[in-house]
Amino acid sequence: MEKKLIGSCIFGQSGGPTAVINASAYGVIRAALDAPEITRVYGAAHGIVGVLKDQLYVMDEEDPKELELLLHTPSSELGSCRYKMADPETDDTDYKKILEIFKKYNVRYFFYNGGNDSMDTCNKISRYMESVGYECRVMGVPKTIDNDLFGTDHCPGFASAAKYIATSCMEINKDARVYDNGMITVVEIMGRHAGWLAASAALASYFGSGPDLIYLPENDFDMDQFFADIDRIYKASGKVLVAVSEGIHYADGSFVSEAKTSATDGFGHAQLGGLASMLANLIKARTGAKVRGIELSLLQRCAAHLASATDVNEACAAGKKAVEAAVAGDTGHMVAFKRVEKNGKYACELELLPLSSVANYEKKIPLEWINDEHNGLKQEFIDYVLPLIQGEPELPLEHSLPRYARLKKILAK
Ligand code: F6P
Repeated sequence: MEKKLIGSCIFGQSGGPTAVINASAYGVIRAALDAPEITRVYGAAHGIVGVLKDQLYVMDEEDPKELELLLHTPSSELGSCRYKMADPETDDTDYKKILEIFKKYNVRYFFYNGGNDSMDTCNKISRYMESVGYECRVMGVPKTIDNDLFGTDHCPGFASAAKYIATSCMEINKDARVYDNGMITVVEIMGRHAGWLAASAALASYFGSGPDLIYLPENDFDMDQFFADIDRIYKASGKVLVAVSEGIHYADGSFVSEAKTSATDGFGHAQLGGLASMLANLIKARTGAKVRGIELSLLQRCAAHLASATDVNEACAAGKKAVEAAVAGDTGHMVAFKRVEKNGKYACELELLPLSSVANYEKKIPLEWINDEHNGLKQEFIDYVLPLIQGEPELPLEHSLPRYARLKKILAK
């Protein structure tokens, strides 16, 4: 049994938001407030940036009922960031500042909720604290709609986005086939390097109302083949619905959408988008058909009204597990999901993975789950994703609109 570590904790959110990242926040905050070892619970404003700026919200001051509403509040309620930390061995400026803040508030537990880049931040902070002999238990809580975190069966946030994408594609498919003349519709779906989200459009097709064609970043994109695929279906039926991942790229690695964008985030990733209209214009010039480009954009990652109850529950459980493990003596790990079968049904167990084994690796869709034509998914993908989107959370409403958490966000002094 590890010795009891008494002190306060900081929880931070990082990277692109999801519909359930606040469910993880609730899992962490509630468990931390309930843990006798944790003396005070701070929420960092905008993740690690808030720690560096000494902007911490006191979670102990919040109304417990409002905190509970975090379970169904989309986006990152405490604020997020995309801030790349230097290697502590090369430049320890930020780490010295973080240590100063940790000492100021007697922070002995640090929980960071994010994707690949955030696990890298978490890992670096864990290493630094160890190297300077400051006792602080550091745990990663997974999150990303992209579903590309290594070592975990799936990531909180993915399933709810997948459910929104599948539902939207089913609905769009209905609208995109109404007229007596031809129509081609292109839907652009997020996912920078991995196609899990765009692949989820296959659920719509599987259940009879979805895209004819789906293109993922797992395969190099070939514009001529893309046009040939569209021409074939258009000639046969006069209607085509296409789903494309924002991350589709040519064989040389350049993004198909790259010509449209030059902005990058703090990690140097290109800000993608604009692909649907670009492809729609190209198709229009070629076919003369009525063409629409639809970018699902932020809608797909903040759609709490279509969240998967499985996702909400697992996200919350991941946060709670991080706190319980840290209080019990664990550090330097990320909570991960292991898929198991119980009584012939999907179940999910929580496990801990070393942060170093997760940070900076990306998990893509197995190539054998993609059809030979590289424009659709096989049954294996449907079997993988279907259990994850199950269940509808009971959404708190006010005036028939969502009732989100209203936090006081009182800054610590
Ligand atoms: O967090 C993942 C993600 O949603 C990607 O799918 C997308 O490419 C990216 O974030 C967008 O990031 P931002 O909101 O910073 O533009």
